[in-house]
This record gives sequence, C-alpha cells and structure tokens, in this order.
Amino acid sequence: ETSLKEAFQNEFLIGTALNENQIFEIDSLAIKLVKKEFNSITPENCMKWMFMEPEKGKFDFDTSDRFVAFGKKNKMFVIGHNLVWHSQLAAWVPTIESPEELSGNLHNHIKTIVEHYKGKIDGWDVVNEALNEDGTLRNSIFYEKLGDRYLVDAFKWAQEYDPNVELYYNDYNMCNPEKRSGAIELVKLLQQNGAKIDGIGMQGHWNLEEPSLKEIETSIEEYAALGIKVMITELDITVLPNPWDLEGAEVSQNYENSAAMNPYPNELPDSVALRLAKRYSDIFQLFKKHSDKISRVTFWGVNDGQSWLNGWPIKGRTNYPLPFNRNNRPKSAYDSIIQVSRDT
Ligand code: G3I
Repeated sequence: ETSLKEAFQNEFLIGTALNENQIFEIDSLAIKLVKKEFNSITPENCMKWMFMEPEKGKFDFDTSDRFVAFGKKNKMFVIGHNLVWHSQLAAWVPTIESPEELSGNLHNHIKTIVEHYKGKIDGWDVVNEALNEDGTLRNSIFYEKLGDRYLVDAFKWAQEYDPNVELYYNDYNMCNPEKRSGAIELVKLLQQNGAKIDGIGMQGHWNLEEPSLKEIETSIEEYAALGIKVMITELDITVLPNPWDLEGAEVSQNYENSAAMNPYPNELPDSVALRLAKRYSDIFQLFKKHSDKISRVTFWGVNDGQSWLNGWPIKGRTNYPLPFNRNNRPKSAYDSIIQVSRDT
C-alpha cells in the first residue's frame, strides 16, 4: 500500500483543502484519509477575511487555530489562504471611503494574522485573484482605492511580520497567455519594488481538455524563470459541461434539474472515469517532468462529495473532480496518478 504523499515524496508536496467538518474532525473518514495521503493542508474557507475579521478590529481565530494545530500535529506543510482577496471579504471593508484608512485596515489585518501564526504557517497566499482575464489588474476595492501599491504593501507587511514564511501570489486561469503575462508583470512589480515573493500558485480548476498540456507546461516554465517556486494550489478537474459554453445560455438555477447540465446524477460512467484518469495521468506526468520547479500540488478538497464543484457555477449538480469518491475510496484517477510516480 502506498499513498500520494509517499509516491511523490522526492518530487513535491501533495496537499488538500480542508473544510469546517474536516477541521473539527467531525468528518472522521475524510480526516483519516487526509492523514494517510497528504502532507500539506490549505483551509478551504476559514481563513478568509469575512471569517478572520468579520468586524473591524475583531479577529476570530477559533477555527483557524484548530486548522493550524491539526497540520502541526500531523507534521504537515500548512498554507494560509488568504490575506487579501476581493471575494469573501468582510462587508465592512468596501464601505471604507478613505484610502489612508483602507490601507491602515489592510496593514492591521495582515499584521494581526501573520504575527499570530508566525513560525506556524509555512506559506501564505498573500494576494489572491488580483488579475482580470486580459492581464490587467482587477478593479477591487483595494486597487480602486490604493492602486498597485497595495500589492507591494501586502507582501512587504507579510514579510515584516514573519520574515521566514513563504509568500505567494495565487490565481486561476494562470495558463491563459494574457493572464499569464499579467501575472509575470505582477511578480516583477513586487521584485522591482523590493518585496519578497517566493512562489506562484496556479489554482488548477481545470477540465478534461483545457488548459492544454502545452499551455500548462509553458506556464510552469515561464513562472519558474522568474526565480520563484511554482505550485498547483487548487487542483480539481470538472467532468461537467459549463453552462457558459452553451449558445446564448444564461447561468440560471433552471439548469439544476436539466439532464444536459447534470448528466451523471448517480454515478460517473466508466468512459468518463477513464478520461478523467487519463487527464490526471497526463498532468501528473508533466508535473513530474518539472518537479525541479514545482514545490507542491494541492487538490481543492478531499473527496468528490464535498467539492465546491457540486455547487458551481450552478447548484445541485453531481460532480466527480477529485481522486477520491464520495466514500473516500480511491478512484481510477487515483490509481493513474500513483502509476505516474512509478513510471520511469
Ligand atoms: O458560511 C455559510 C454558511 O453559514 C451557510 O449555511 C452556507 C449555506 O450555503 O453557506 C456558507 O457559505 C459558503 C462558504 O463557501 C463557506 O462554506 C458559501 O455559500 C459558498 O459560496 C462558499 O464557497 C466557497 C468559495 O470559495 C467562495 O468563493 C467554496 O467553499 C470554496 O471552495 C471556494 O474556494 C475558492 C478559493 O478560495 C479561491 N480560488 C477559487 C476557489 C473556488 O471558488
């Protein structure tokens, strides 16, 4: 018997994201699996701003302390996710009018949390999803009020309050050439302004075809060429159709019960399971080839049943994006990933 973390111990860390039931060890089967298979953890939700500082200056460390303690107890590489993001932000933040005040709040948010976990968290997603698809900076409350200096400030503050922790920029669609150029510019902006950045997180919310292996490879190479580590931080592969791909379609709850949008309500047909296993095999072969550049591969969730992809972009679908099924049993995708570690 082997495990994902053992299979790739000479290549990169293998991580997963933990939800609240897992952090509080209510979901004991999933937790058993996490201890066996993974050596890195990321909090799926509990460290986001709306949970960490729901009211100005009032911090809540209850769940996140549990999360970090679990990781330390099990000798895992613990990721903090995340310090700055326009989404799952506390409602009070966008009401701040003055740039000076917003900057002060951002500083205090980063200082309080990073200091609290100094020496305990191994890597921080400092800034999450700051880019538009065309590579320009997203017009978040932070960019709108502070301009691009908020990026430099955030990384400098994180470094100041824990000089040894690794600092990352994390985003999705990081293989899309325009966005990739923007991400490269963002890293250079940080580097040229004397901020430390240790790595880039390519989220990895992918599907059976896209992004192409070619684009993934080019992205790994171009990010690594900046002198930083590359991580696949939120890997899952949807097997379901994207409603936005339908001609003239609107994302609507009406898709919930549509057979076209939820084609596998009970189980994944073997033919699709095989495609998924092949896709995982292909991308892990690529990761293995570039293991000198990749420090960690983290799945976004432990098993198919609790994946966010059952509820996005429309609710109530049955998705199968991960290597473990709804009973926490390994799927053919799992076997194909393990097989890659054995191939020479
Ligand atoms: O907290 C409420 C709870 O009180 C309520 O009972 C419940 C009912 O639906 O909702 C809970 O909030 C949910 C929250 O997760 C916490 O569980 C939200 O509805 C739900 O939308 C939210 O989704 C999360 C999503 O980020 C929000 O943007 C997903 O679980 C989480 O997997 C996802 O993770 C993000 C990464 O952080 C960044 N990259 C993309 C990735 C996928 O969207």
